[in-house]
Amino acid sequence: MTFNFPSTRLRRRRSSVWVRNLTSESILSINDLILPLFVHDRRETTEPIPGLPDIKCYSIDGLVSIAQEAENLGINAIAVFPVVDSKLKSENAEEAYNPNNLICRTIRAVKSKVPNIGIIADVALDPYTTHGHDGILKSNQIDVENDETISVLLKQALILAKAGCNMVAPSDMMDGRIGKIRRTLDDNDLQDVSILSYAVKYCSSFYAPFRQVVGSCASSNSIDKSGYQMDCRNAREAICEINMDINEGADFIMIKPGMPYLDVIKTASNKFNFPIFAYQVSGEYAMIKAATNNGWLDYDKVIYESLIGFKRAGASAIFTYAALDVAKNLMAQRS
Ligand code: PBG
Repeated sequence: MTFNFPSTRLRRRRSSVWVRNLTSESILSINDLILPLFVHDRRETTEPIPGLPDIKCYSIDGLVSIAQEAENLGINAIAVFPVVDSKLKSENAEEAYNPNNLICRTIRAVKSKVPNIGIIADVALDPYTTHGHDGILKSNQIDVENDETISVLLKQALILAKAGCNMVAPSDMMDGRIGKIRRTLDDNDLQDVSILSYAVKYCSSFYAPFRQVVGSCASSNSIDKSGYQMDCRNAREAICEINMDINEGADFIMIKPGMPYLDVIKTASNKFNFPIFAYQVSGEYAMIKAATNNGWLDYDKVIYESLIGFKRAGASAIFTYAALDVAKNLMAQRS
């Protein structure tokens, strides 16, 4: 195929709104958005989060109202993350499988008041460990023990599912946990609870604001998860991770962070006939917010463009802290 100027003029396709709309290759819709929410267990307050401008940490009741607002806007699912009181954290994360812990009470509250919104909950120990790692430490107090961690993750996944969570999302990057979680859920008559596997979770510095919120690196302000999260130099390894998790019974695959890893999203969505989710993580959001709050960039436009990038790459759903803002804008465009 050859296209030659002047018989071909690509600008003809861009000459007006209607023709640009007719030839657009990607679409961002409210259907694509998943809203991450933080919940605390203190008073009935809504607290600002310093590293995430305009994002709040809610009480359970506050979170329920936001879930309702999200549903009213047409957002299909929320992802809930607990900010656990430091007194409840421990070396071996026992609070993670307390059936009455903060996140289970949150899930039950959302289920009873906003029953039709999907609830996704992380399966990982970092909000519950004093050291902030996603698993149980070996006796050297440095490395994370894989198989021992899995046995705790199974208990955690089970109480989340029993509380009414629709999708458990192992984000810990241990080997072999997807198959074991699937079997545990199935053995407990929880076949309808799905697994969103964070199959491709990079060891990223873009998680810093999130870690400050959940307190998983409050003390030293840096934590090294390179022994289990993926090396940012690797893309082929991502294919291997995805393959294994699909074979073990994952229903959805997550790639995270998003913007620096669009190549991986693209490769994965081309290669696998499987829904690929992506996470615009806290640092990506914070970066955009910082620039837009300084008046250097236009928030609505830059967020939209960043999320269209995820869609162009092939993501089917996107976790973004901007989900409410984006949904409002998409709704306004429709009316
Ligand atoms: C923990 C978890 C992290 C995020 C989601 N789940 C942080 C980490 O792995 O240290 C990051 C999300 C974000 O930065 O928005 N398992």
